Amino acid sequence: MSLFVMTGATSGIGLQAARQLLENPRHELIVGARDPERAEALRRLAPEDRLKVAPLDTSSLKSVRAFAGFVQNASAGRKIAALGLNAGMQPSNAARFTEDGVEECFAANYLGHYCLSQLLQPLMENNGAIILTASGAHNKADPVGKFLGYHGQKYSSAAKVSVGALSETSSPAQGARDRYATSKFCVLLYVFSKEPVKIHENVRLIAFDPGTVPGTQIVRDLGLVAKFAWATVFPVFAGMLSGFSTTTQSGDALAKLMAHPDLAPHTGLHIDYRLKTAKDSPETHDSNLQSDLMAYSETAWPHSACALP
Ligand SMILES: NC(=O)c1ccc[n+]([C@@H]2O[C@H](COP(=O)([O-])OP(=O)(O)OC[C@H]3O[C@@H](n4cnc5c(N)ncnc54)[C@H](OP(=O)(O)O)[C@@H]3O)[C@@H](O)[C@H]2O)c1
Repeated sequence: MSLFVMTGATSGIGLQAARQLLENPRHELIVGARDPERAEALRRLAPEDRLKVAPLDTSSLKSVRAFAGFVQNASAGRKIAALGLNAGMQPSNAARFTEDGVEECFAANYLGHYCLSQLLQPLMENNGAIILTASGAHNKADPVGKFLGYHGQKYSSAAKVSVGALSETSSPAQGARDRYATSKFCVLLYVFSKEPVKIHENVRLIAFDPGTVPGTQIVRDLGLVAKFAWATVFPVFAGMLSGFSTTTQSGDALAKLMAHPDLAPHTGLHIDYRLKTAKDSPETHDSNLQSDLMAYSETAWPHSACALP
């Protein structure tokens, strides 16, 4: 049996990836999920000996630690083949802050996953993969991102990002898109970091770009017009336009990346929904920005807090 752990598997791309992984009777899955009703619906996908679902809010350090403890107990000494860290939220207007005092989008999309990866990596198989879902929205040159109103990442320092203080923010709605793009930029800085990130040499750190995938629940906090267009108009373009994908294509690609080490054979890769190398902005490879984020990440939620007993 191969053991997998996922976040963000209650809907959209992650739900499809979970379904795909569970198609193989030799796969076992542990999922962290925030919403109890969606968690229960997911739980019914497979018998409990193959699918376990436990509470997880990736924006809360306390919750991330509790979930990591659950995984440690449930895995009972068996090693994890891959982590699919796919949970993500798109904020709508003014910044909100978590119980830890961190801007919610940065905490949910990046910092919680950073901490979870640090906590769980000692439990990984040799050549196991930690796969974090990124987004083309981080890149101001991304044509689909531009079309959707993204202006790319606005990272100046991790300390500023963590309190929602981004540069050149023009309106609350644009500020929300900037925070989303910047949180995904942080995912890529982490994956590309050349700093001595505390990830074991035998574990691969991979970024996954799902493309633009209309019809998912990522727009749940946006206005009615945006939700309507996302659910009905945009799916028409998926499969016809470059950069657009479908829930099935992107979910299946994520599941394949998790289950097949040969598709992303070494650490620091950025792979898209076609299982090809994804495009990233040059700033994602800036070692000063990488160092700044890694220094922040290790102290904001101190490394001691990101280690299992
Ligand atoms: N759709 C796109 O076009 C697109 C493009 C680029 C990147 N992405 C990324 O792809 C990933 C999947 O998105 P999707 O489009 O499939 O959207 P989705 O249907 O909204 O799925 C998002 C998943 O993340 C979970 N989640 C959100 N915030 C969480 C938190 N604080 N703690 C725990 N779980 C949380 C949601 O759980 P709940 O059920 O509890 O809400 C849900 O399972 C995200 O990382 C997203 O940013 C999507």
